Amino acid sequence: SFNTIDDLDDAQRVLVRLDLNSPVEDGEAQDNRRFSRHAETVGELADEGHRVVLMAHQGRPGRDTFVSLDQHAGILGEHIDREIQFVDDIYGDDALDAIEALEPGEVLLLENTRMSDDELPEEAPEVKADTEFVQTLAPQFDAYINDAYSAAHRKHASLVGFPLALPAFAGRVMETEYEANTAIANREFDGQVTMLVGGTKATDVIGVMETLGEKIDTFCLGGIASHLFLRAAGYDVGYDRHEDLDLYDTQWANNEDVIRRLLDERRDQIELPEGLAYEDDGERAEHTREQLDAANHDYMDISEETVEKYDPTIRNSDAVFLKGALGVFEEEQFSAGTVGAVKAIAETDCFSVVGGGDTSRSIEMYGMDEADFGHVSIAGGAYIRALTGDDLPGVELLVDAAN
Ligand code: 3PG
Repeated sequence: SFNTIDDLDDAQRVLVRLDLNSPVEDGEAQDNRRFSRHAETVGELADEGHRVVLMAHQGRPGRDTFVSLDQHAGILGEHIDREIQFVDDIYGDDALDAIEALEPGEVLLLENTRMSDDELPEEAPEVKADTEFVQTLAPQFDAYINDAYSAAHRKHASLVGFPLALPAFAGRVMETEYEANTAIANREFDGQVTMLVGGTKATDVIGVMETLGEKIDTFCLGGIASHLFLRAAGYDVGYDRHEDLDLYDTQWANNEDVIRRLLDERRDQIELPEGLAYEDDGERAEHTREQLDAANHDYMDISEETVEKYDPTIRNSDAVFLKGALGVFEEEQFSAGTVGAVKAIAETDCFSVVGGGDTSRSIEMYGMDEADFGHVSIAGGAYIRALTGDDLPGVELLVDAAN
């Protein structure tokens, strides 16, 4: 494993990588679970009397979400009830002056790391460690702390460059995400292990089933996963009416063979929906498998009967993992699948991890309590990679640093 902030010496100058990448609506960054989670690490470091400098990214160049982090400082500050200073610079003179001026217990957030050309693109850690970004900032600090598990799949300077230039430690979010998400791949449980597989990407679904096929007893399918497997099973779930070819037709065309093989090999482990829901005159309506009619309907959720079928499987489990939403839960009439599954998980006394994309948002939206889950992941792409057994470079470097 890796060293954590418990292993830091007293009164250090620490450079901390967070993942505050957030939805942005009309130019305004939206508060979300990433702020409340990272607040724990930042608050603890400040309370311990370290000088705390934070780095994070937001969006990507060319996208609407690519904005300054000035608002993020205010949002994070509210979560830890202390002022967070902000400087609109990353490693220029203004940043260096602000870092130099910090007193013990003070916290400073630097500008969006992706505004530096050194941050992107993805390159080897040695290359990133050699950038002006890393070479300028590293000498200002005693330690580097990576708390950005959810960005650890990216080989960007702020994630892979600094561990080669400074003693490297894991923050609290990194620790808890790493433990929960690797528990699955290591199958650290006895008894029934169930995975609810949803979301919108065929390759994620296939990756998860290929990698975890021997470790999971039952896969309950929803979302795009269920459409693909129902289609392989001979039901009329097509994609012809969808305009987003990338999400539908191509996903089927590119993955048909492997989906048919997985259905064949893992038939006893796979639970398919009994039917799917669609919109009829503004109201939720449902089709059984036999009634499915892809040419005339867009299916947005698993049917009520499917929710009832998955319920006892979930409640009889010793461990349950949810990857991705089972339907379009953001629309209340298509939330029954995701909310039904997530509520059953909450009410079951088992080890549970809920993650993938925005799935964790369903917990707030439908009035559930995060404390009823083993772990609610704030990671998207990194969660999938952990489930599919891929290394996360940012995590690997922390492990290397500890050895
Ligand atoms: C995320 O939001 O999942 C991470 O911060 C990674 O962001 P990216 O997909 O823009 O690299």
